[in-house]
Amino acid sequence: MRRIITYGTFDLLHYGHINLLRRAKEQGDYLIVALSTDEFNWKEKQKKCYFSYEKRKQLLEAIRYVDLVIPEESWEQKIFDINQYNVDVFVMGNDWEGQFDFLKEKTSSDVVYLERTPEISTTQIKKDLESMGNKIID
Ligand code: CTP
Repeated sequence: MRRIITYGTFDLLHYGHINLLRRAKEQGDYLIVALSTDEFNWKEKQKKCYFSYEKRKQLLEAIRYVDLVIPEESWEQKIFDINQYNVDVFVMGNDWEGQFDFLKEKTSSDVVYLERTPEISTTQIKKDLESMGNKIID
């Protein structure tokens, strides 16, 4: 069985995330998502999530491409996770292009960067909702 792992926050789940997860799963048979905890997001990425870790986890677990969700609590855990779960392919969106190439030397995993879906992100959704403000009637 070919195992894949990917990392991210996946807040306000959107079609860019679904596209990424679908293509990640196409790399093999079993997809693990390491989901950033609320604390990791805040301390390391200065991001405050709209949905809590538990809610984001529930949403991901409802997606047919996702087989397992584990917490992402540190930048350093990737080598440990790849070894622990016998991962064959490490996948990230190409906003991270090149940044995880070292995993090819440090583990037996391949590293694949998938093209991001254009014009959608959690940040963009938040901005758009903010600028709509009071214009939402219902
Ligand atoms: N992703 C993607 N296409 C998008 C948005 C995200 O392929 N349009 C991918 C990212 O490259 C990453 C994963 O989805 O591999 C999770 O990304 P995340 O940072 O959680 O989502 P963003 O929408 O990019 O969130 P933010 O705006 O907060 O950075």
